[in-house]
Amino acid sequence: MGEKIHVLISEEEVDKRIQEIAARISRDYEGRSIHMICVLKGGVFFMCELAKRITRPVSLDFMSVSSYGNDTKSSGVVRIVKDLDEPLEGKDVLVVEDIVDSGRTLSYLLQIVHDRHPASVKLCTLLDKPDRRVVEVPVDYTCFEIPDKFVVGYGLDYAQKYRNLPYIGVAELTED
Ligand code: IMP
Ligand code: MG
Repeated sequence: MGEKIHVLISEEEVDKRIQEIAARISRDYEGRSIHMICVLKGGVFFMCELAKRITRPVSLDFMSVSSYGNDTKSSGVVRIVKDLDEPLEGKDVLVVEDIVDSGRTLSYLLQIVHDRHPASVKLCTLLDKPDRRVVEVPVDYTCFEIPDKFVVGYGLDYAQKYRNLPYIGVAELTED
């Protein structure tokens, strides 16, 4: 079994949209610094592109979580694999994700973040699959809403492959 990748959102479209969202975030955080938390590994490409275009002072931290459950369905019970390096108290936190699917992982992660007493918390995602939502999560900035299809590229993987594609593609399984 192999995969064939069809372009869903081109590199130009993604870059243009990230620029728009970065401009909005820069306006919304006028006079403040932003503490960006990247959810590894999928969020890392988006976080870098977004951070480069934000015109406010930015600090970065990283968190890696693994959800208990099988590969395609997350259970919502999340284990912290790599915790943040810095405390969050008093900071304006922007959580950066690759995709919000069922919402289970993020809802758990947001709870962890809130428990550490930041000044504010907002959520920014590259992709959103609203049709798949099981748990409500407050998404503040969305680059693209997409249909219920399995996508790869721009940080998103299929069995750890395709994260480095500079566009977002739909993975179609093939016989060879
Ligand atoms: P959930 O919102 O807890 O269901 O899980 C979201 C996580 O599932 C994301 O952070 C991705 O790692 C993964 N995921 C969901 N949909 C896709 C997809 O279409 N392609 C690649 N990974 C996905
Ligand atoms: Mg993810």
